[in-house]
Amino acid sequence: MIQVKDKTFILFLDEKTIQKRITEIGNQISRDFENRDPVMIGVLNGSFMFLSDLSKNITIPTEITFLKISSYEGEKSTGIVKNLIGLDSELKGRNIIIVEDIVDTGLSMLHLIDQLKKTNPASISLATLLHKPEALKHNIQLDYVGFEIPNKFVVGYGLDYDGYGRNIPEIYQLKL
Ligand code: IMP
Ligand code: MG
Repeated sequence: MIQVKDKTFILFLDEKTIQKRITEIGNQISRDFENRDPVMIGVLNGSFMFLSDLSKNITIPTEITFLKISSYEGEKSTGIVKNLIGLDSELKGRNIIIVEDIVDTGLSMLHLIDQLKKTNPASISLATLLHKPEALKHNIQLDYVGFEIPNKFVVGYGLDYDGYGRNIPEIYQLKL
C-alpha cells in the first residue's frame, strides 16, 4: 500500500507486467507502421513515462512530439477539455499515433482526434496504456490498449492524483 496526499492506494500492475506489455505493443506498432514514417504524439502530462518506454521498443524510424491537454481536477473529470500546449509539427499526410496514458470517458481523445483531423493527416491511430471500458461514453477507436482496467481511480507510471504520484514505477488503485 502507498499513500499519495490524503489517499491510500493498493498495488495493481507491477513494473514487470507493465514493461512486458509495452514491449508487445512496441513490436506490434513497429510491424504495423513499417515504411509509414509515423509521428508519435504524446499527450502530456500523463503519457510521458509510457511514451518513453514505448518509444524504446519501436524499431522503425519515428518522429516523436508532444502536446498538452487537461480535463481532470483531483480525481474527477471536469467534462471540459483544455488545450494547454499546441502542436508544432506538420501533420498533413502523416500517419499519427496518439500516445495516451488512459482513456476514461473518452472525451479528451474525442476532442483531440477531432482537432487532429483538421490537419489532414493520412491516418490517426491511438495507443493507450490503460482503458476503463465501463467509463467510456464516446465512440473512440482504440488501436492499441495495454490493459483494460476496472472503473477505479489509479495512480503511478505517469498518472497522477492532484499532480502527485506520476513518478511511481508501478500502477496503484485507489483503496475504497
Ligand atoms: P477522459 O477524457 O475522461 O477519457 O479522461 C482522460 C484523462 O483523464 C487521462 O488522460 C488522464 O489524464 C485522466 N484520468 C482518467 N482516469 C484517471 C485515473 O484513474 N487516474 C489518473 N488520471 C486519470
Ligand atoms: Mg492524460
